[in-house]
Amino acid sequence: MTAFEDVIARGGVVLFPSDTVYGLACDPENAAAIERLYALKGRPADKASAVMFFDLEAALRAVPELGPRTQTALRRLMPGAITALVRNPGRRFPLACGDDPETLGLRVVLVPALAGVGVPVLQSSANPSGWSDAHSLSEVAPAMRAGADLVIDGGELPGVPSTVVDLRDYDDAGTWSVLRRGAVDEDDLAVALEGRYRFHPSSYGAMVTDTLPGYAELQEQVAAASGHDIRSILDLGMGTGETTVRLLDRHRASRVVGVDESPTMLRAAAERLGSRLEESHVALLQEPLPDGEFDLVVSALAVHHLDGPEKADLFRRVHGVLRPGGRFVLGDLVVPERSDDAVVEQTPGYDKPSTVAEQVRWLEEAGFARVSVTWSAKDLAVILAEASG
Ligand SMILES: C[S@@+](CC[C@H](N)C(=O)[O-])C[C@H]1O[C@@H](n2cnc3c(N)ncnc32)[C@H](O)[C@@H]1O
Repeated sequence: MTAFEDVIARGGVVLFPSDTVYGLACDPENAAAIERLYALKGRPADKASAVMFFDLEAALRAVPELGPRTQTALRRLMPGAITALVRNPGRRFPLACGDDPETLGLRVVLVPALAGVGVPVLQSSANPSGWSDAHSLSEVAPAMRAGADLVIDGGELPGVPSTVVDLRDYDDAGTWSVLRRGAVDEDDLAVALEGRYRFHPSSYGAMVTDTLPGYAELQEQVAAASGHDIRSILDLGMGTGETTVRLLDRHRASRVVGVDESPTMLRAAAERLGSRLEESHVALLQEPLPDGEFDLVVSALAVHHLDGPEKADLFRRVHGVLRPGGRFVLGDLVVPERSDDAVVEQTPGYDKPSTVAEQVRWLEEAGFARVSVTWSAKDLAVILAEASG
């Protein structure tokens, strides 16, 4: 146990360096410790404070009720200088929640001096209420330094407090808002929460054509593999419907259901496709798929955002929503056999391509009767998986 954990476990208050400013920390389940921390700050005891973790997985385990989209958002944003307000139906850490036990403020930090700390803490900045934040220990009020049971010097800190982002409606509606501006700016949040920078509806078409020279050919090959007599299509990671229109041109009697995590991309798809878009779902591909017995499930350039086990799981669920004899056409970024063929620029942590061989195996394991590679060029490929019928 570290000295930090020891003091927290005994109900003490620690003055510590976070990734932004100096803070005071105590056990979030110990009412007496919280009272002492608030007394040191001169802050009313009924105000909410964030619960801070030093390890992301520990944070996700501590609040198991978090929805899948919120979990994905937290994985993209944390550790980082962000406080996320999340729904807390399990009423975890009630003493940190002030008068709203169903809202929890979560912080996950990477602080070298506290690496390996396994316990969560209730934390608040180490300045009397209404005073400015402390960048260094010398800026912390002497009474606060004297009142803490342990003082950890982390040197000079950046000094800009965390950005507070409200994710309480993120799972249901895909919406979020900034409640306090801080160290992480809104554009960076938008990248993580909406793919707004990479995938803004107004710039997506030009961006994908510029960065992916094989895009038009990939779309053509996806359409070519899609078969005949198609009346219902499920498009996974539909985006603005760039590839969907090509499929609908070929299958004139068909209607389409789209899934995408980005509400803004789906709005653009709805404008483009009109009444031929039967339904659109703001959802992750890791979540349950829309019910149905689709003739065709298609996905262009979206499944590579899932890791290996998530892809294997998706392929099983895709098999489950196809009619007998239905097809799944996957056109995507892959890990090529020759490393020289990896030409598409990738974003670490967001792009997670797999090899063609791995995906063929996962499709076979998912129950598809026939799996074939209908086209490939460098790090792009089209895989056709047919359900037995
Ligand atoms: C490169 S775009 C492809 C869009 C479209 N299929 C096309 O062919 O142009 C990737 C799309 O996948 C969506 N996306 C990325 N990860 C996702 C996930 N885990 N669940 C659902 N949609 C996701 C993005 O919002 C984006 O609209």
